[in-house]
Amino acid sequence: MRLSRRQVMRTLAGGAALLVAPPLWQVVQAQEDFIEFTAAPSRQSLVGPDGPVSDLWLYNGSTPGPEIRLKQGARVRVRLINNLEEPTTIHWHGIRIVNEMDGVPGLTQRAVMPGETFEYDFVAPDAGTYWYHSHNKTWSQVARGLYGALIVEEPETPFDRDHDLTLVIDDWRLTSEGVLDLATLGSLTDWSHEGRLGNWLTVNGEVQPSFNLNAGEAYRLRLINTSNSRILEIDPDSFGASLLAYDGQSTGAPKPLGYAPHLLGPAQRIDLLVVPEAGKDFVIEEISSMEAYPFASFAVSGTNKPASPLVALPANPIPEPDLENAVNFPLRMSGGAMGRIEDIYYQGRKLQGDDFRNTGQVWAFNGIANMGEKPFFTVKTGETVIIETINDTRFMHAMHVHGFHFRIISRSGSTIDEGRPWRDTFLISPNQTTRVAFVADNPGKWLYHCHMLEHAAAGMITWFVVE
Ligand code: C2O
Ligand code: CU
Repeated sequence: MRLSRRQVMRTLAGGAALLVAPPLWQVVQAQEDFIEFTAAPSRQSLVGPDGPVSDLWLYNGSTPGPEIRLKQGARVRVRLINNLEEPTTIHWHGIRIVNEMDGVPGLTQRAVMPGETFEYDFVAPDAGTYWYHSHNKTWSQVARGLYGALIVEEPETPFDRDHDLTLVIDDWRLTSEGVLDLATLGSLTDWSHEGRLGNWLTVNGEVQPSFNLNAGEAYRLRLINTSNSRILEIDPDSFGASLLAYDGQSTGAPKPLGYAPHLLGPAQRIDLLVVPEAGKDFVIEEISSMEAYPFASFAVSGTNKPASPLVALPANPIPEPDLENAVNFPLRMSGGAMGRIEDIYYQGRKLQGDDFRNTGQVWAFNGIANMGEKPFFTVKTGETVIIETINDTRFMHAMHVHGFHFRIISRSGSTIDEGRPWRDTFLISPNQTTRVAFVADNPGKWLYHCHMLEHAAAGMITWFVVE
């Protein structure tokens, strides 16, 4: 599905000009007390204030959910109240968290039933840009809006609040009437191909919002891709941005990316530094389609000032993998449309014929679709793990490890000497093999899955144990 503002706009009532939606978006500071998050249905427009309303599911009626802000090392306490008609949980994506708070129903906690509450209480050890989202029927609950930003500030934050902008980007699938398309939720075509791609981007719940910047001042832009499956393609060089961090982790001294497009996969984050020049307004565009799709614009006022030196964000205290003594676990991804679907087992049974359609299971890791009874691997606390992921499918995937940040140590045999960035989610192309390494220093049961949420639902999910 192509992103096309025009197509959707054309069909909207009377072709009336869209006003910028009032910010529905709230920021809450983590505090001693619990913050209450009520997950509930909410009817809101995704196409501007006068547009038709969509049936969303939101935290506190806000799309995205309230942005949570705290200082590195502080505690987050959220009381989740479930006013939905189905069970739910919250996962704190990218936080190196105590296992019981990871929010995976059936693995780390019991799902929170309608009418029930659950108290999340954990410490955020790393500064950076993170997010949270529902982790039950994720493909459906996230598509309806159950997610938000989680920002952990450095002890000495290099950017004050006016110079620190979060852009929560979501790709929605709207019907020709301009409302969230619920009829195609769970479509097996999506599940077996690229996932649920939308046709409408919002930033912080708004349609192409505009930000006012002062010339010559340094701004941090935190981009979070909360799409179910859309890989966003952007070109940070086109607006003179430098790279600060991937998935919350500093990439060292700010530098231009020097290539385009940059792919921001589902669940990935990128922090950019921008020092706007006087008189040079700019836009950020999604460039995967024939026609670039501008999703945020920036108006620059004032005159240039002498530039202050640009400093790197501090590194987080993540243990360095011991590659010499690492244990390597290969994981072969298979299945999907035009892929190999022979020898896929689901719940101990080999799938054949109509089974694929009936179970919705079409992808596998090492021949097993969905959560196997046995873990992918078990290691002792403190061991260095290498996961060697072999993509034997015709599609790209966005692979995410719960509970740990890893270094990408090689891609298709070629060692990445420079950088070896820390990430919590990496993109892998068809026929590519990628090795990632981390120290399994946190005991518990952890997930490894594709963050294209339809792929995870259709089999691309497994778990491992640190004991
Ligand atoms: Cu953000 Cu299991 O995922
Ligand atoms: Cu995938």
